[in-house]
This record gives sequence, structure tokens and C-alpha cells, in this order.
Amino acid sequence: MLLRLCQHQARRLYSTQRQQCLFPTRTIRSLLDTPQDNGNVAVRAWIRSVRKQKQVAFANINDGSSLKGMQAILTPEQAERLSTGACVELQGSMVDSPGKEQGKELQVTGVRVLGGCDSSYPLQKKRHSLEFLRSINHLRARGNTGGAVLRVRHAAGEGLQKFFTEHEFVQVHTPILTSHDCEGGGEVFKVAPASTPSGKPSEEFFNKPVFLTVSGQLHAEMLASALSRVYTFGPVFRAEESVTSRHLAEFWMLEAEMTFIDKLDQLLDVTEGSVQYATRHVMDHCSEDIAFFNKFVDSTLTERLAKSVEQPFARMTYTEAIEVLQKANKKFEFPTVWGSSLQSEHERYLASEYCQSPVFVTDYPTEQKPFYMRANYDGKTVACFDLLLPGIGELVGGSMREERDILLQAKMEAAGMDIEEYQWYLDLRKYGSAPHGGYGIGFERFLLWLTGLENVREVVPVPRWVGHCKY
Ligand code: 4AD
Repeated sequence: MLLRLCQHQARRLYSTQRQQCLFPTRTIRSLLDTPQDNGNVAVRAWIRSVRKQKQVAFANINDGSSLKGMQAILTPEQAERLSTGACVELQGSMVDSPGKEQGKELQVTGVRVLGGCDSSYPLQKKRHSLEFLRSINHLRARGNTGGAVLRVRHAAGEGLQKFFTEHEFVQVHTPILTSHDCEGGGEVFKVAPASTPSGKPSEEFFNKPVFLTVSGQLHAEMLASALSRVYTFGPVFRAEESVTSRHLAEFWMLEAEMTFIDKLDQLLDVTEGSVQYATRHVMDHCSEDIAFFNKFVDSTLTERLAKSVEQPFARMTYTEAIEVLQKANKKFEFPTVWGSSLQSEHERYLASEYCQSPVFVTDYPTEQKPFYMRANYDGKTVACFDLLLPGIGELVGGSMREERDILLQAKMEAAGMDIEEYQWYLDLRKYGSAPHGGYGIGFERFLLWLTGLENVREVVPVPRWVGHCKY
């Protein structure tokens, strides 16, 4: 632990020194983190609030590098042109703060207003509702919640990528434009140019229908059949018409695909490892932001996250899950007979009440799942899983892939797919097929888990959902 702290401190110092060479000013975070560097400093930030008294004025400034920002002490004359929302450069020296919370504050010697701000600025020093903040999305990140979300989002992505790098995965960039619907759900957006210079009908641009990708999985499988372990991390698109707190039309997915694993349990181990690793990374790197969410959004957050990285996730088959639901002393709206889909109410019961922890539900009925999932020997289920989280529902979907070409082709034909269009996918089974599997983590849902927020629209910088595509 001590060694980790020292390494962390050394990294911070090194990055601070490098930053000083590259940028004209230091970030507030680096100034507060490395007090030994304080002398005369200049800092650029936006004003969160100004308090002007007769003899002295106080400004709270924030540049987004940390939650709490910095307190600046000014003379009333220096503070004259300062107002909430303005962008300023303050020069001065870091001094010990008499207050308990703030270790250091800035004693200002010079002020430059880089961009003034009038009184119509909508973010004032009070708590605004999340709905209001969403309506001023272009300024949302200037508030505490908006900034904290983006720092956690960054750390969560970094944690996931670090996990895969440490486990020898290669990051690949799968295309956004595709000619197939990986999940077979028909929720694809069709793509065509608004006009073509040649005057050709725009639908003919690609000589075939082309869509925004719903998942990079099939392309990731293509690349895992050569590089063994790959992952892709990017936006995916679904023409999802239901308006729920869990669905966006554009969201980010981290998809991992690995060859040379033989069993579903091995895939679950990797999934659990990656989710726990990234959670720990966020806890280590965003402790201030997590404490903020714990205080203002979800008072169970810190304890819940700590528990989730210490204990293995529960595991049960779909068949066991149905038995649990049937025995539950609860009236469900939707049926709980074998073969019926698990609805949100069922998922909620399994994760939040029965297991009270994240739970993998595995081996769903074949009819409920896409063509690419590997058939189990029982002839009625496939080797797949959903990872369900308490309070959130499905976070991850994944499976072993059908690597046996005859079985795969039969399934594709039964699903009415155009075999010629997917010949390349069948070729992967024809030329050196290998057992493999993978999964996709819904990144915004992961952020709900990490922040305690309840709606995916709060955790994506610019949300898109049915009827909404502002900016
Ligand atoms: O379960 P899904 O549909 O899985 C796939 O797309 C696989 N091809 C992934 C793979 O194996 N490589 O989606 C994966 C996750 C879901 O578990 C959910 O967390 C999230 O993506 N998700 C959404 N998140 C926000 N808005 C939506 N409309 C979402 N649809 C799915």
C-alpha cells in the first residue's frame, strides 16, 4: 500500500513537471497536489462564485481538474470585474489556508479577465436539478455533477483499457459503418449521404444498405481470429424507441473478444476481473468525486463499490434463475415459465433482492439469443451470459461464439440471413476455426453503477435518445 502511494506520488510529480514545460499555467489539481512547487503561480479557470466584503474578496475558481477547485483571496479592487461564470487568469502565491477543508489557497497579486460573463449565466451557486442541467447541456460540465461525471468517465475508460493492456489484449478499431445487424434486432440506423456530387441516388453510395454499427463484435471476432485477444471501445447506435433511464440511441460499448478459451466460466472470470479492476481504478483515482456522489446522490455508493471489488459475483443459470423467480414470494407482472424472457422486474429481483450483488445469469434458451452464440449440448440453450447489477439491470452481455461451421451455417439459414453477405464470417470457421468468446460492457450503465446516478442521460456528455439530438 505504502509502495503504491509512493509510486502514485512520483507519477504525479513527474506529470506536474512535464505539464509545466508544455503549458503556460498549471492546473488547480496539480497546484493543490504538489505544494512544494508553489511559488509565484498563474492559474486559469472559471469563477464558480465571488464573495465581496469591505476589506477582502473571495473567489472560488474551478478549471475542471478537480472537484473542489481553489479559493482565491483578492482585494475588493481586484475583484471588481469578477463575476460568476467569467474566465480568468489569476497570478499570485499559494499560501496556507486558515480554513480546515482547503489546505492551500491563492493569495492573488494580479488578475486578467479572459472572458467576462453577464448575469444571465444560468449556473448559480446553488443546487440545480439534473433535468435543468440537461437543458443547458453545453454548460453542464461546469457544475460539480457534470465535471465529476466526466472525470469518473475518463477514469473508468482508462481502468478498462489498462486491464486489457495488462492482459495482452490489442485494441482494435472496428468500423462504425457496417452492412450487417450483429444483434439481429432490427434496431439499426440506415446511413446514406444527404446528396452525392455525381447525382447518383444517395442509397446507391455503397451499392447496398449500410447502417451505423449496433456492436463491433463480428469485426472483433474477425481480428481475434488472428491476434487472439482484442478489444474495441467506441460508440454504437441503436434505433431504440423505448424511452427508459437505461437506453440511449448512441452509447459507448467496450467489447472484448478472446480466442483460445474453452468454457463460459473462463469468460465470466475475465468479465468479472475487468469490471472489478476498472471499479478499483476509479475508486483509487477519483476518490474525491466518488465521495461527492456518495454525499449528494447515493449514500450507499462507497460501501457498495468496495464490496463489489472484494467479493466474487454470483453465478446462476437461466434455468436456476427461473426456479428462483417461481419460488419468490412475490407477484410479477410478466410470466416466469421456462422459455420466457427475463424482464426488468425479474432482473431487479435476482440482483437487488435475491443475490444482493452483481450476478451472472448464464445459458439462456436458444430462441432468445442471436445466431452467433454457441449451442450447448442440451440442445435448447446457448453458452451465453448477462451480468445483472443491483439497481441497474443488465450491464454486460456476452457468449462463447459458435465456432463449428456446419452448426453456425444452419443457424444462420434458420434465422433467414443472407449467407453470401456473411460468407466472410463463415470463412473464419472454415480457415482455422478456434474456440472463442467475448462480451460487451454498456459503458453508460457502468457509469450509473460507479456514480449512483439513475439515468444514462446524466453520464454521457451529449445524450441522444428518441426525439432528442440537440447540438
Ligand atoms: O447485450 P448487448 O446487446 O450485446 C451485444 O451487443 C454483444 N454483441 C456484445 C458482445 O458480445 N461483444 O449489449 C451489450 C451491453 C448491454 O448489456 C447494455 O449494458 C448496453 O450494452 N446497452 C445499452 N446501453 C445504453 N443504451 C442502449 N440502448 C443499450 N443497449 C444495450
